[in-house]
Amino acid sequence: MTTMYIGKPTSRVDGRAKVTGTARYAAEHRVSGLAFGWIVSSTVARGRIVRIQTDAASALPGVLRVFTHENAPRLARFDRSYRDEIAPPGAPFRPLQDAEIRFSHQPVALVVAESLELARYAASLIRVEYESSPVATDLEAQRPSARAPKPRPGLSGVPDPRGDPDAAWESAAVRVDAVYRAPPQHHNPMESFATTVFRRGDGRLTVYDKTQGVQNVQSYLCRVFGCSNSTLRVVSPFVGGAFGSGLRPQATAYLAVLAARELERSVRVSMTRQQMFSFGHRPATWQRVALGATEDGCLISILHEAVAETSRFEDYSEAVVFWSGLLYACDNVQLDHKVVQLDVATPGDMRAPGAAWGLFALESAMDELATKLDMDPLELRLRNYSERDSIEDLPFSSKALRECYRQGADRFGWSRRNLQPRATRAGDVFIGQGMATGIWEASQHPAAARAELSDDGELLVSSATADIGTGTYTIMTQIAAERMGLPLDKVTFLLGDSSFPRSPVEGGSWTAATIGSAVLAACDKLRKKLLRLARKLPASPLKHATPDEVVFADGWIRSAKDPARGASLIEILRQSQFHRLEAEAGAKPSSKQKQYSRYAHSAVFAEVQVDAELGTTVVTRVVSAVAAGRILNPKTARSQVLGGVVWGIGSALEEESVLDHGLGRFMNHSFAEYHVPVHADVREIEVIFVDEVDNFVNPLGAKGLGEIGIVGVAAAVANAIYNATGRRVRELPITPDKLL
Ligand code: MOS
Repeated sequence: MTTMYIGKPTSRVDGRAKVTGTARYAAEHRVSGLAFGWIVSSTVARGRIVRIQTDAASALPGVLRVFTHENAPRLARFDRSYRDEIAPPGAPFRPLQDAEIRFSHQPVALVVAESLELARYAASLIRVEYESSPVATDLEAQRPSARAPKPRPGLSGVPDPRGDPDAAWESAAVRVDAVYRAPPQHHNPMESFATTVFRRGDGRLTVYDKTQGVQNVQSYLCRVFGCSNSTLRVVSPFVGGAFGSGLRPQATAYLAVLAARELERSVRVSMTRQQMFSFGHRPATWQRVALGATEDGCLISILHEAVAETSRFEDYSEAVVFWSGLLYACDNVQLDHKVVQLDVATPGDMRAPGAAWGLFALESAMDELATKLDMDPLELRLRNYSERDSIEDLPFSSKALRECYRQGADRFGWSRRNLQPRATRAGDVFIGQGMATGIWEASQHPAAARAELSDDGELLVSSATADIGTGTYTIMTQIAAERMGLPLDKVTFLLGDSSFPRSPVEGGSWTAATIGSAVLAACDKLRKKLLRLARKLPASPLKHATPDEVVFADGWIRSAKDPARGASLIEILRQSQFHRLEAEAGAKPSSKQKQYSRYAHSAVFAEVQVDAELGTTVVTRVVSAVAAGRILNPKTARSQVLGGVVWGIGSALEEESVLDHGLGRFMNHSFAEYHVPVHADVREIEVIFVDEVDNFVNPLGAKGLGEIGIVGVAAAVANAIYNATGRRVRELPITPDKLL
């Protein structure tokens, strides 16, 4: 493939729209005659609504309706109608369908009024009486009730044990056996969830929604409300961050559509920041890792078990322990994942679900093992480097992790690190350095795209995917421009419309490969059509040319042998009397791809300063060396990894959703108390992309970057804190109280 655009640092094609405010987000679409909904949230975590007084609210002039479980229409009967594309097994929550309270902050009413302020005021007049039941929200206390989750579709289950882990553990010369804990976290994208439903005179609905999957939301709403795709369209051109929170349809979409249908009005419903803490958190997770090694540091047994929370009504699970089965070479491995049902909203996917917590535990344990062995932690990783995926027994499509270790260590200056903990002090601070490995899957799913060329030379490419800030608009524009040999500014990529060609939800770091491959396929089909037309032109200079004998460049098709012979795309269309020529095509993983194990890897190095008196930690430096196949756009790619590293720092030091186990309620549901890193917390971050040629992973040779950036960062920071202070903290976040 030529590289006019692919692989070049390219600024976001949607950057201008975003910084000038012309990009419309879900709550910003202008619709006339709009009514505004305000969600009333439950103040208890478990029980029943015994009485709900709405008279005072309803009586206010301008209040259109107060919807509660008592008057809301009864919607689809069966759970399967509510199960979206990525729903875990179980009975999805149905807002306003019964009196039962399943979690704190559950929506219990929707007030719809002529203005947002009025809806909010009216909501404050609603009185709800609950009969509340005792809650169980403490993972630790409920751990004895842990059981295997029902398998989640699309998620690799826990691999069977291999070898003889017990015997190997008994025979190990050096052992580490430790428990690691991670708290719940809530996604906090800048844009909160919102849905603007535009209702046309004929009753058809356009649902402007914040989502990672317009078609997922469309099919969910159509099943729940019993309508057809042709009467309900979902549109989501811009998303102000999502990180997994927008994978499943949200209550705003459900409630806004419900109100729009009942009131025969256009309706907008949005969530407050506090309500952003009412669904789909990263689950609190308890983990035990036991590593057995020979005296020279070869792993002979790995045991990794996890217990995570889920709700009472769905079995959410994620790949926490899976990675311990393939990251290092080891013959005897036992993995286990269990869930505990708590009175919480069903947890949900959050950036690198499973791996974020799983690698914190595994990579902390590896550091502990290195300490026991008196070995350099990096040397320990190299000694146990896996050349083959031992879970699937497959070769890797590519794996440049060794090079990540080498380049990352070089840049970081790892060789100058003091192996001795608590040995480097500068004034009031201890300085320490730590490292960890990261891994994330490089998957591809079936998807389709359409490419349309018009006779003014403009190419429009579309697919129903999303851009949650990752750069999808930009890389798809690059891919299409490259393939069609058109200047970047002649290509427009459109996404976020359920009427566009088929796309899965945007998640799992699979979008670059998934939609990118579909865009390639659509462009290839269009190229064939154009060549066919070109060959038929009178006195065609390309009369006998086959697809292999031509190149598409500068808006022309040219003979590869004789570039003077060719025709411009505009001329081909005009002379053939086409205003537009279009091609739609799908792409899916090939059977050849599946003969390889496909992962992205990283090596993360962190330096910290820990205040000897105050126990406060500053991460002064991070080097993240990433091997993710071909890097389509180094500029947006770097942003992805930077964001992941920042979140890793937050996970290590700050982020925690704190439950009051008496109330079953997340108490710090605001940015004042839920701490995320701010500029002052983030110092130097360096991102290295290690060359990795991958001819097997997918047609683009690219692995996704949305999640790999966060994986391993919390462990690298925890390991650096150990190196700085001699204190091993096995519970995130590592707040000052844990270091004093
Ligand atoms: Mo990502 S957690 O799959 O949006």
